[in-house]
Amino acid sequence: MAVGLDDVVAAETVLSHVDGQAGRLVLRGFDLEALAGRRSYEEVLALLWDGFAPAGDVAGGLGRARAAAFAILAPKLPALDGLGPVEAVRAGLALLADRVEVPHHLLATAATAVVAAAASRRGAGKTPVAPDPSLGHAADFLRMLRGEPATAAHVRALDTYLVTIADHGLNASTFAARVIASTRAGLLSAVVGGICALKGPLHGGAPGPVLDMLDAIGGPERIEPWLIAALDHGDRLMGFGHRVYRVRDPRADVLKRVVMDLRGESNRIRFAEAVEAAAIRLLAQRKQGRGLDTNVEFYTALLLEALALPRDLFTAVFAVGRVGGWAAHVLEQEQSRRIIRPQSAYVGPLPQRAA
Ligand code: ACO
Repeated sequence: MAVGLDDVVAAETVLSHVDGQAGRLVLRGFDLEALAGRRSYEEVLALLWDGFAPAGDVAGGLGRARAAAFAILAPKLPALDGLGPVEAVRAGLALLADRVEVPHHLLATAATAVVAAAASRRGAGKTPVAPDPSLGHAADFLRMLRGEPATAAHVRALDTYLVTIADHGLNASTFAARVIASTRAGLLSAVVGGICALKGPLHGGAPGPVLDMLDAIGGPERIEPWLIAALDHGDRLMGFGHRVYRVRDPRADVLKRVVMDLRGESNRIRFAEAVEAAAIRLLAQRKQGRGLDTNVEFYTALLLEALALPRDLFTAVFAVGRVGGWAAHVLEQEQSRRIIRPQSAYVGPLPQRAA
């Protein structure tokens, strides 16, 4: 029995394909590299949602949905004070009633960005900023977060990030969302489930700890001893390893290029590269034949840091991009009439029979 459902095929999808041997990610017939940096997040959402949601102007619809989400949720934001950003997103989406008459794939995607930005500002003692529906999603997210327009370079970098992480096969959060969708609970409930699964440190919670690791290592001379001590202690090195990839995660290279475009050859990048090289070498020694390599979260951490986003916001920003993929999977799942209901193997005691 595969305890972690390794290699179990639990859904058919036209949305994305992860080739773990080749290190390739295909989104609706396009290699990731053909989309990231070349198509906007909204264009990729239109691609993912094509055939599952009514065709239309995704950028305009998403802008209007941000305004609607802000109108509904702004009065309720004080109730989220004291929560971390990803907890606030979880709670904020849970406050949306199923009866709201905004298409739910747009509303969920919009609300994730609106709540992440607003909760982060309130946490810093600042007033939330209302959306500007005329802006692109990445530009408006940065503006809602910072209270001022972002530079074109920052918008481009965040947009490429959102595209890069928009969808990725049947990862844990997408699977969770599809299970909920299969019960016909509705898209908003399914997306809340996706966020709950994403926030764990083994999934979307890894980028903050990646930076914590770099900080804890401190300098080049401490890389090797620090990593050895962590592995001896049985710790996981954040930003490395993947259930499906046996080679380097292709998203890591896409995001590394974006970081380099933003920061150039900085000391930070050189240090991170040295940590990465040592980690891969040590993991290869310790887990021979497993092919543990860099995953998406390592360069996500460096990219979000280069955008000067607060570290505790990283997982919520992951959700800002991935929610579009969850919505696509939920819409696809809703076309299936069959509930997802696997079996468990009972290994507990049986009742004693009367003699
Ligand atoms: N550091 C140290 N050891 C590791 C790591 C790591 N990053 N990744 C895997 N291993 C170990 C496992 O503990 C296991 O050891 P064992 O055989 O002694 O039990 C062995 O390598 C093989 O593990 P896998 O089967 O390859 O790992 P699995 O598929 O169960 O887990 C996961 C995948 C959760 C991503 C894991 O690699 C991990 O915890 N990585 C660190 C956290 C991280 O970066 N998460 C983000 C992933 S990307 C994403 O979700 C968006």
